[in-house]
Amino acid sequence: MVQTIEAASAAVVGLAVGAAVPERLLGQERWPRGKKRPFDSDEEPNSYKDITTYNNFYEFGTDKSDPAKNSGNFKLSPWTVNVEGLVKKPAAYHLEDFIKPHKLEDRIYRLRCVEGWSMVIPWLGFPLAGLIKRVEPTSKAKYVTFETVYRPEEMIGQRRPYLNWPYVEGLRLDEAMHPLTLLAAGLYGKGLPNQNGAPLRLVVPWKYGFKSIKSIVKIGFVEKEPPTTWNISAPDEYGFYSNVNPEADHPRWSQKSERRIGEFLKRKTVMFNGYAEQVGYLYAGMDLKKHF
Ligand code: MTE
Repeated sequence: MVQTIEAASAAVVGLAVGAAVPERLLGQERWPRGKKRPFDSDEEPNSYKDITTYNNFYEFGTDKSDPAKNSGNFKLSPWTVNVEGLVKKPAAYHLEDFIKPHKLEDRIYRLRCVEGWSMVIPWLGFPLAGLIKRVEPTSKAKYVTFETVYRPEEMIGQRRPYLNWPYVEGLRLDEAMHPLTLLAAGLYGKGLPNQNGAPLRLVVPWKYGFKSIKSIVKIGFVEKEPPTTWNISAPDEYGFYSNVNPEADHPRWSQKSERRIGEFLKRKTVMFNGYAEQVGYLYAGMDLKKHF
């Protein structure tokens, strides 16, 4: 994100389509198509091409076109997700067992990157709350942590110190339990492409995109606010909360407007990325310029 924002016209490259999530899981019963779903944005989703060729995934390089170009050899199988820390049921789950008990849903969400661009993405996933209930956090657990896989032999970006690897993120437990918070295993009804965070990523639509950590191998439950990758890298620029907030400018650029990928004119950025009605209560009484 130290990079400047690039032109939207990323070259078409060979797409690495996620294969780790078996189609029979993706084909589970879903909200009937055509019906207005409670959390959907009614905005037009970006094209599959936009969503899968204009990416931030520094493990595969820092240019927007790098993740699609460099993630073809990323191995999705076997994949284990470790659930650990302050939970009654810590375990190492094979991906399939991790996903199977949950009903996958299509969710059309806006994604706003802190760099000043945005997209609308039709995810396929399940609420993180379902997983949290399943693993039963103890009363001491106040935060949830997430970690991306560390495999420098497959992820060329991890061979350089762009960031403090592995990429880590965190949410307050009540944010993690919010019905909008999703673990996504697909988009546009198909398995997640590698460049979008296969086989499993987080999606938190009211926060800047960097909270939506990709290729997750670890989910932990802790008592204290955990370290997060972009905050470690530049604490004055990226806070723990990272809620989309047009009133709290990034030190090096304004957050008042954004460019929707595929559009020419800028749009106004909206508080909590347009999800204020649903999530505003989580931050009642907090100074969001201080807790940016
Ligand atoms: N997760 C990991 N592990 N590494 C990253 O570099 N980039 C973040 C987030 N998750 C990133 C990550 C940023 S800055 C954004 S904007 C979104 O992923 C982009 O998601 P997309 O490429 O699917 O649009």
